[in-house]
Amino acid sequence: MSRLSVLFASLLVFVTKATAQSPVWGQCGGIGWTGATSCASGSACQVVNPYYSQCIPGAAGSTAAPSPTTSSAPAPTTSAKSNTVAKAAGKLYFGSATDNPELTDTAYVSILSDSGFFGQITPGNSMKWDATEPSRGTFTFTNGDTIANLAKKNGQLLRGHNCVWYNQLPSWVSSGNFDNATLSSILQTHCSTVVGHYKGQIYSWDVVNEPFNDDGTLRSFVFSNTIGESYIDIALNAARAADPNAKLYINDYNIEGPGAKSTSMQNLVKSLKARGTPLDGIGLQGHFIVGELPSNLQENLEAFTALGVEVAYTELDIRMTLPSTAALLAQQEKDYQTVVTACNNVEKCVGVTIWYSWVPSTFSGQGAACPWDQNLVEKPAYSGIIAGFQ
Ligand code: G3I
Repeated sequence: MSRLSVLFASLLVFVTKATAQSPVWGQCGGIGWTGATSCASGSACQVVNPYYSQCIPGAAGSTAAPSPTTSSAPAPTTSAKSNTVAKAAGKLYFGSATDNPELTDTAYVSILSDSGFFGQITPGNSMKWDATEPSRGTFTFTNGDTIANLAKKNGQLLRGHNCVWYNQLPSWVSSGNFDNATLSSILQTHCSTVVGHYKGQIYSWDVVNEPFNDDGTLRSFVFSNTIGESYIDIALNAARAADPNAKLYINDYNIEGPGAKSTSMQNLVKSLKARGTPLDGIGLQGHFIVGELPSNLQENLEAFTALGVEVAYTELDIRMTLPSTAALLAQQEKDYQTVVTACNNVEKCVGVTIWYSWVPSTFSGQGAACPWDQNLVEKPAYSGIIAGFQ
């Protein structure tokens, strides 16, 4: 079972809603438990194993077992659900990225499918170019369809990710030595076909992913090198024609605070609007390090919304140097709350999506980025998310 899957399996421990109080020594939670989740006075609910939580006399109130490998930071006691609180705050969703390998785990799927937790999902890999058009003109949608169908079944919004990106681009595209006209046609065909395939099923598309370098210059790759900045217009126009109701986004990282890259993205928004290219939103990925959030998150969001686009945090995770400590977990709680609060305070920030499964394999010595720990216990960070929406 993957780390992500196990994590969500653990969530089953605390997802049932309190209906009454369990007596001292009575069951108060566990996978499949639908009875009371609060305990009689003088006792508190503690996890015995994923299938059985019990009202222990004199125990400290907690819905989760303490983690032996993380810290003694108190576990959150909230029973609020992230998407429920996001919607109550006027947002469209709180969401999560997911990926096809995880979908064989029924316990995980049951939590991912709980629209109380997640009102939106994003396929982490299965709609990217290498997955959808691995060779020219041959389109495969099997894995993307699986996630689209899951979202439909669950009544969740779906974010398409993505039409054009420098990464996970098959070598037939990047090394094909195509001229401008041919490459423009390849891009137009790709975005039209993929967005068209999911027409009517997608709330928003990351049409263009990560177009800038960190210094704010246009990222060099086959499309920008051959076509120039107008590759972005080709992709957006193709997407709009293929699914007129989908919100069209450009998505990037390190644009969450003011700076050269954020300014370049704002200038791109202005240029695209000036030349009549369709664009509805800017996705701010939100891959952060504990204690190192950019300043002025809210002002930065407002700089985008002032240009007439909506915004969303599309890939939020906040990693730390391991091992985690109580101080790091407490700072992570604050950081999650700070990010969610920034979105909550900006009317045209439509939602927040978490995306953390890539962290352990990418950053040696770093991890614990998600709102639950490696022992599948909800962390203070989860409370930070809930607090941010309140
Ligand atoms: O599909 C192959 C599989 O056939 C092979 O056996 C396996 C062996 O390593 O690799 C598989 O490909 C992996 C792919 O994910 C699908 O699982 C790649 O190695 C791996 O590099 C790739 O990582 C993805 C990464 O994008 C690529 O840059 C992550 O899962 C995905 O979460 C991550 O997502 C990106 C967003 O799209 C854009 N923003 C940043 C974010 C995090 O990097």
